[in-house]
Amino acid sequence: MKAVRFTGVFKPLEMQEIPIPEIGKRDILVKIKAAGICHSDAHYRAGISPVSFTPLTLGHEVAGIVEKIGEKVTNVKPGDRVCLHYLITCGDCYYCSTGNEQFCKQGKMIGHHANGGYAEYIAIPSRNAIHLPDEIPFEQGATLMCASATAYHALLKSRIKPGDKVAVFGVGGLGQSAIQLAKAFGASMVFAVDINDEKLKLAAQYGAIPINGKITDPVVEIKKLNAGKGIDVAIEMIGLAQTQKQALQSVGPLGRVVLVGLSDKNLSVNTYSEILGNEVELIGSNDHLLQELPKLIDFAAKKMLDTSQIVTRTIPLDADAINKTLDALEKFDAGVRTVIVP
Ligand code: APR
Ligand code: ZN
Repeated sequence: MKAVRFTGVFKPLEMQEIPIPEIGKRDILVKIKAAGICHSDAHYRAGISPVSFTPLTLGHEVAGIVEKIGEKVTNVKPGDRVCLHYLITCGDCYYCSTGNEQFCKQGKMIGHHANGGYAEYIAIPSRNAIHLPDEIPFEQGATLMCASATAYHALLKSRIKPGDKVAVFGVGGLGQSAIQLAKAFGASMVFAVDINDEKLKLAAQYGAIPINGKITDPVVEIKKLNAGKGIDVAIEMIGLAQTQKQALQSVGPLGRVVLVGLSDKNLSVNTYSEILGNEVELIGSNDHLLQELPKLIDFAAKKMLDTSQIVTRTIPLDADAINKTLDALEKFDAGVRTVIVP
């Protein structure tokens, strides 16, 4: 089969011909119909977040059709439409059995620690497969598996409640879902901070108040629009120290700031004015959980989460087209989400 693979830091991804993977008794083979290209994939290619081995097939936002099942598989059958939870875990350890599988010591993320979805087929444990309702196209099903799911998890981490005022910093792939989910959770105001007018326009369509961080200071603007006060929840989905700081400074008393954007840099905070004086909480959010996905898919099936505008481009399974998308993501110039349709 064809697979587009990472062979080393700073090298362009390469198309390779590799065998269709074998499956074990509890695994399934999925014919890939859509694989999203996430900003994290650009981080993997750049070595900011190292992968486990090379050559490795990237891609962790995957949807497709079940082709073959192992002899012990009962939850899906060949022909089923599925999307795939990207974390493969042991299911047995303390973290897995207490519902926090992202800390499983044996956990492997597809497209990062195991071969992923920039390919024609993928083998994966059957419990990672979630049925994709007919009304959700494969491209959108794929982006639910990281962009939307990560946003959903981050909002749960923020302990958002009805009436909260929320700011989303960075309204790319993840942020556009975060806006809609914050509204679905009952946020009374959602601010969208970005530097890209197209993305801000889409954010406004989803009901957010757009703020262009290139033109105005988002902290000043958010407070101005909120009667001079700080807001309740700020979610940072970019990974820059500058916007992390802005997120911290935009909240008021008892504010919760959730960091989602990957970064390997330090962040300096003023302990009194930014954290303890207002009892502000700085919360890390990483990945998402299998148990969160059925509800998320339900939101999408009911159109409370509309991802139709989030997939702004589809490309074939082609190394050159994928590398160009990753280059554009590095410059924050890639549209909202590009999805590979093999
Ligand atoms: N101020 C405001 N917005 C900015 C700034 C800035 N200084 N710099 C970039 N942005 C915006 C971009 O215009 C883009 O819309 O941040 C957004 C980031 O979105 P994407 O590039 O689509 O990234 P996404 O896939 O959503 O991932 C966001 O989460 O999981 C992590 O690794 C991922 O760090 C990445 C982050
Ligand atoms: Zn991702």
